[in-house]
Amino acid sequence: MQQITKVKALRSCVRDWHQQGQSVALVPTMGNLHVGHLQLVKQAKKLANKVVVSIFVNPTQFVAGEDFDTYPRTIKDDVAHLGDIEPDLIFIPEIDEVYPAGLEGETQVIVPELDSIFCGAFRPGHFTGVATVVSKLLNMVQPDIALFGNKDYQQLLVIKRLVKDLCIPVEIVGVETVREESGLALSSRNRYLNQQEKMVAAELHQALSGIAEAVKAGVDDYQQLEANAVKHLEKKGFKIEYLSIRNASNLGEPTEEELVVLAAAWLGKARLIDNIQIKRCREGNFPP
Ligand code: PAJ
Repeated sequence: MQQITKVKALRSCVRDWHQQGQSVALVPTMGNLHVGHLQLVKQAKKLANKVVVSIFVNPTQFVAGEDFDTYPRTIKDDVAHLGDIEPDLIFIPEIDEVYPAGLEGETQVIVPELDSIFCGAFRPGHFTGVATVVSKLLNMVQPDIALFGNKDYQQLLVIKRLVKDLCIPVEIVGVETVREESGLALSSRNRYLNQQEKMVAAELHQALSGIAEAVKAGVDDYQQLEANAVKHLEKKGFKIEYLSIRNASNLGEPTEEELVVLAAAWLGKARLIDNIQIKRCREGNFPP
């Protein structure tokens, strides 16, 4: 398990692998790795011969007032966790290596529309930061596939869209969300929850699951489902940013068969996001 900090050394390593006919997977992360991240790495090992994990806390995706300075940097622990799974290479660049021209006035990747709704509306500029750094990482590593969590569903769609629009030759794979037994999605930011809040936090997943079941059972008053869930969660102490049933393919109004119910909410000091994908059944065609 090599650790590399420079793009030049990274490229030479990946070039050798490709020349030997080995396929390469990339798992981009910001570190502070938990079981959810490790699941992506395990999945990557199944899908490619060689696996690169990047660890980079990307400044441009943090909006003013967010936790960039205090975001946990736990490289030693991260490397130890990865040691159990053994990816082939860990890429840990410094900021200058990723942003050689500095953070001001440099080229950005903007994914219109998708970047300004839901999380994008509450974190303006966030998805431009994500799209820019992921484009850079894909160019640096040039993997055959790259894996991202379904948990950050809007992020996954933004990345799929930029890869398509910029003709980047990589397959983007979404990986199932890893949850605690309570249903709470694992997240680096769950550490902002106290013990009591952690128990309440699982209600978010339960509310989304309830909606998913209702939609699958044929309930079609989506606005009512959304409003009921918001009311219930607010009573439990959540401050809801959004909770919405949308098309899974593009987050547009729910007209398609494959839907997603997605939400962001504050509980105490933690901003939680979660979603569930739903396959809606056609009229009169109830699931078994
Ligand atoms: P980070 O929050 O570190 O997450 C890295 C990857 O792990 C993302 O693809 C995310 O969706 C996935 N992930 C997080 N929690 C998960 C869970 N509970 N189950 C499964 N996968 C989970 O997302 C980012 O970093 C950054 O925006 C990044 C893409 C690295 C760009 O900077």
